[in-house]
Amino acid sequence: MKFFVDTADVEAIAELNELGMVDGVTTNPSLILKSGRDIVEVTREICAMVEGPVSAEVVALEAEAMIAEGRRLAKIADNIAIKVPLTWDGLKACRVLSGEGFMVNVTLCFSANQALLAAKAGATFISPFIGRLDDINLDGLELIADIRRIYDNYGFETQILAASVRSVNHMSQAALIGADVATAPPKVIKSMANHPLTDKGLDGFLKDWEKTGQKIL
Ligand code: G3P
Repeated sequence: MKFFVDTADVEAIAELNELGMVDGVTTNPSLILKSGRDIVEVTREICAMVEGPVSAEVVALEAEAMIAEGRRLAKIADNIAIKVPLTWDGLKACRVLSGEGFMVNVTLCFSANQALLAAKAGATFISPFIGRLDDINLDGLELIADIRRIYDNYGFETQILAASVRSVNHMSQAALIGADVATAPPKVIKSMANHPLTDKGLDGFLKDWEKTGQKIL
């Protein structure tokens, strides 16, 4: 499973990138707001740091305007994936922009039918939002499994990009289901290293080592 980082915080991206954990980046208008940066400036900086796709989202609601915004965003760098919402107009924009050779990430997906439409419209990525479904007592991971099955049934090449990932459980379950990509905030990716038995084991080893009176260096 590829790891995308769901942030526009360049320092956080750089830290994970050094460890080879960054296969791509996803941003959205809320993350741009949080960064306090200009969308073009910060996205250009991220694109230069990361080799993989960097999603930048349009904000227009009508297809023609989305297409114009998408073409503008794609000019920032070759590794831009244009993010469009899963609306009828978003699907029209997806069709046109993917036909022009751009990577398109169709976002705000909350149902298997929406994912089916995005694949038919030529999306490079479909972004089902796990956490926001869980928030309303539905099962976000079940949606990932349904989309995996549907795409495999028909050989759709659209990549499943599990989004709205809030926990380490979301990460491991998305990987078990076979999501192609998961995008998560930096803190979730870093938390994947944590285990209480690792901390306990390390504590025991260090106490015993002290008793040996030895040094490695
Ligand atoms: O990738 C989409 C993501 O940023 C939304 O996450 O936690 O706001 O639902 P969240």
